[in-house]
Amino acid sequence: MSEPRGQGAATRWGVIAFVVSTLGSAGFVVAYAVEASPQWQGVALSIGLAGLGAGLVAWSKGLMPQGPEVEERPDIEPSTDEERKTAAVFTRGRRSIGRRRLFGSLLVAATGAFAATILTPIRSLGPAPRDKLRSTRWGAGVRVVDERGHPVAADELDVGGVLTVFPEGAVKSADDQTVLLRVGLEEIQPPPGREDWSPEGYLAYSKICTHAGCPVGLFQTDTQVLLCPCHQATFAVLDGARSVFGPAPRPLPQLPLAIDDDGFLVAGGGFSEPPGPGRWTLGRP
Ligand code: FES
Repeated sequence: MSEPRGQGAATRWGVIAFVVSTLGSAGFVVAYAVEASPQWQGVALSIGLAGLGAGLVAWSKGLMPQGPEVEERPDIEPSTDEERKTAAVFTRGRRSIGRRRLFGSLLVAATGAFAATILTPIRSLGPAPRDKLRSTRWGAGVRVVDERGHPVAADELDVGGVLTVFPEGAVKSADDQTVLLRVGLEEIQPPPGREDWSPEGYLAYSKICTHAGCPVGLFQTDTQVLLCPCHQATFAVLDGARSVFGPAPRPLPQLPLAIDDDGFLVAGGGFSEPPGPGRWTLGRP
């Protein structure tokens, strides 16, 4: 007995969809491995996902009873015609099981290939940055220099002045960039343990915003805050660059300062915390 026309078409489309999905997912894995453009990766992934969805729809149409079903009440003594119908049902059942196996195999292949597309990007996760973030080039005795590499003397800035500085020998180093500013010494309310970090009113903070890493460089002297232009994170410079407004989850790391015998600014040590967005250090002490 031949299978219903609708089911036959659904079966064919389901097979095609699962095969296409498997090829699309495999294509994504290959595209990812050879670092093809994101557009190609996106196209392959879309094919994998769309094929899987279409195959599942075809599965439901091809293998699930579509109804309405009418069950005839059987006679006690089956007629010849009944016996023939029963045999036909058995035959159809055999076909259905075969089709289900085919569908099942293709579904496993398509799902497995699609799972590979999900797992493949894990390969891009490098080692956790961990202590690497702690190691900037700032350290005790390292001279503070400006963007031209000139040492910064203790009388370089007036109160209200601001300057981007780097550790000597690392001018333009992104991780080490620091904002140096000068305020009235008596105005500073240092966090505990930082009482001697700001000689003559000089304060130094990492220039990398703790929200998403934009450079923080707008110093508002009337309110004594540093502003990040990206999402308006605001840091109170007199109070350890505490985050007082906006999305930054933690203060800007502070650099302890000192003045050497020649009258130049030097670092008294490294940053108080690793510089950079807060998520880099989530869960760390
Ligand atoms: S990066 Fe500074 S507020 Fe978002």
